[in-house]
Amino acid sequence: TEWTTPLRYKPYHQWPAAYQDMLESAIQKSDWKQAFHIQPKTGLLNDPNGFSFYDGKWHLFYQAYPFGPVHGVKSWYHMVSDNLVDWEKRDYALLPDSPYDSHGVYSGSAITVGDKLFLMYTGNVRDERWERHSYQLGAWMDSEMLVEKITEPLIENPPTGYTDEFRDPQVFRYQDQYLMAIGAQTKRGKGAVLVYQSKQLTDWELLGELDYTTEEMGFMVECPNLVFVDNQPVLLFCPQGLDQNITPYQNIYPNMYVIGSAFNKETVSIENTSDLVNLDEGFDVYATQAFNAPDDRVLSIGWIGLPELDYPSFEEGWAHCLSIVKELSIKDQHLYQKPVAEMQVLRQNHEVLQGSVQDEYLLLGSPDKNVYELKLELDASASGSLYLFADKQNTEGLKLSFDAKHDTISMDRSKAGIPFGESYGSIRTATLKRQDKLTLHIFVDRSVCEVFVNDGYCVMTSCVFIKDPQQTHIFLHGFEGNYTGDFWTLRDMN
Ligand code: FRU
Repeated sequence: TEWTTPLRYKPYHQWPAAYQDMLESAIQKSDWKQAFHIQPKTGLLNDPNGFSFYDGKWHLFYQAYPFGPVHGVKSWYHMVSDNLVDWEKRDYALLPDSPYDSHGVYSGSAITVGDKLFLMYTGNVRDERWERHSYQLGAWMDSEMLVEKITEPLIENPPTGYTDEFRDPQVFRYQDQYLMAIGAQTKRGKGAVLVYQSKQLTDWELLGELDYTTEEMGFMVECPNLVFVDNQPVLLFCPQGLDQNITPYQNIYPNMYVIGSAFNKETVSIENTSDLVNLDEGFDVYATQAFNAPDDRVLSIGWIGLPELDYPSFEEGWAHCLSIVKELSIKDQHLYQKPVAEMQVLRQNHEVLQGSVQDEYLLLGSPDKNVYELKLELDASASGSLYLFADKQNTEGLKLSFDAKHDTISMDRSKAGIPFGESYGSIRTATLKRQDKLTLHIFVDRSVCEVFVNDGYCVMTSCVFIKDPQQTHIFLHGFEGNYTGDFWTLRDMN
């Protein structure tokens, strides 16, 4: 298929149902299909949206384009869970069917209000000259999970001084009102985050541009999320086109965060902010959404995929997945991300790992399939490598190298299967804080791998598209010392 613009914006009802069935069976048959990550029903998935807790359940939506692995006209697809792990597929919840969202129901958030769930999102519209108009829209979901759009926009226009690159509202409660953070671009072409306030959710008033850095935030900020971790404000955001001298990154667009000491509503600022930090030190995380959950945890989930990049699964007609759900905390002014405790419900067969390595390739395992959880604890004086997705001879594999002398860990996917995204480099390196042990907590799921290093001090995520079903070997190499650990096979979600 050649994905021309008219084709990408063809109305949903004009696509034959049989075509969607064909796309669905292509995913089902794929060797790269994940077991416990949220994937598109058909076509493409991107940002997580509306992550929330409502009526006793976790709710999550994602940006969806159902008809192919491209960024066509978007909608929200709804998922529901009791445990943040097993997600039930519901249905398309918001379709691009109004004059205010005709060219895409773009990203947004959700919050429980009374006995309903309030959804706020961006309506993307292209006019005859294909110029963009962005409307900030609302909808209510009831306990039957029926969604009703509010017909008129909640915010009609970007404020003076800002362009129509104006999207991704995140609504949250703050003192006795609601606040909303939204991504924006100044008329001078600089990325910004704006903050609005409201009492009723329909009467949004601009507070101002959020002050959280003295640096220029590229040409556009997407998906800002302001959350409070132990009362400290943390801003997660995607500064597109950020100067790499501000904070080095290699992905096409970065997903970053800053931590501050306090949020000051009067001055619309985050006080004493840290430098910008990469939220994920790997290859493929973008558009992370976080929220303060009613159980006092701060939970996040990201899109595993990047804009404007081609992935090998496109050939099978589908694209991308979401990350597992992570819990955020702060220690020594650093953001830690851990898999939520609920992930344990997936565990099946358990194996204890223990031993020592000399200068050899030690086979830690070769499971039937790449669906497992691996925890390893290594002497921190160790320098060496762990290979995942390796073939028998270890000529192909995802290589994680740790170097105690330099307190670094790197992920090399140059030989990890079908190459992709190579113009952005095949190695990512993160700097660690020295500690007695190096701990790796790894979730592998068919074509994705999430590595939590040193109890979530950093996370490295990568997609891996193996060439051969034999690529399930796990090797440890090149360090002299002891290791202990656990290995679990994991079940499919649901
Ligand atoms: C981020 C993003 C958002 C937008 C959505 C459209 O990946 O570009 O800014 O709302 O995706 O799908």
